[in-house]
Amino acid sequence: MLEKIKETTDFIKSKTQVRPKTGIILGTGLGNLVTQITEKEEIPYETIPNFPLSTVEGHSGKLIFGKLGNVEILAMQGRFHYYEGYSMQEVTFPVRVMKALGIENLLVSNASGGMNPDFEIGDIMIITDHINAFPEHPLRGKNFNELGPRFPDMSQAYSKEFIAKAKAIAKRNNIKVVEGVYLGTSGPTFETPAEYKYFRIIGGDTVGMSTVPEVIVANHAGMKVFGMSIITDLGVEGKIVEISHEEVQEVGNKVQPLMTQIMKELVAEI
Ligand code: HPA
Repeated sequence: MLEKIKETTDFIKSKTQVRPKTGIILGTGLGNLVTQITEKEEIPYETIPNFPLSTVEGHSGKLIFGKLGNVEILAMQGRFHYYEGYSMQEVTFPVRVMKALGIENLLVSNASGGMNPDFEIGDIMIITDHINAFPEHPLRGKNFNELGPRFPDMSQAYSKEFIAKAKAIAKRNNIKVVEGVYLGTSGPTFETPAEYKYFRIIGGDTVGMSTVPEVIVANHAGMKVFGMSIITDLGVEGKIVEISHEEVQEVGNKVQPLMTQIMKELVAEI
């Protein structure tokens, strides 16, 4: 693993002179932010040694180095999901590489199903905490002390400082945001009504199929994390309707510019 990280990091460093401190993982279909990046240098995932091979043709994604406003950033357009069949080590490998590239702050985004009855479709939720409901833990197995501690603290997995800044940014831009706990589970099925109820009872405000593995590894690596989720459907009793991936993407598309605005101002402040 350590050798793979080094090999991949060396390759990426040979492709660009940009050395950002902030990394952004954009959920599938949440690429609006990319349109705001200037001085772009793109590296397709399929050309990067040791990066997982895409399971979906034409949707493999890319690393984008560039500037958001005046700040150098590294964006991952597209992530690897556990439901696609990747191991947890594969899902989180890009975060290890980001750390080795010098990334200190990790910003993540996703789409999720709202379970908090106060939430509405199209809301942006600032992630204050998460519940790991995946069947496997990304840090299970031999621990490499070079990468982080055996038993990482998770008492502030999402930086309180970044959350406060993001809330202030949303307020001054008149963007409605809600806050809550993101519950990550494997998918690929959306939840049954009983599962939504169960995930709500155990403390989730939204449920989705990503993010938690990456955030665990980022914390293991000592990075500061911030996350936002677009509520694309509701898993609230009485409001549950049939949903599809297309509907999730449609809502995501509408709300993306607002999320981009918050991200853009946040990177300038951190
Ligand atoms: N459940 C799980 N993942 C999701 C959902 C959901 O309702 N909506 C968007 N991603």
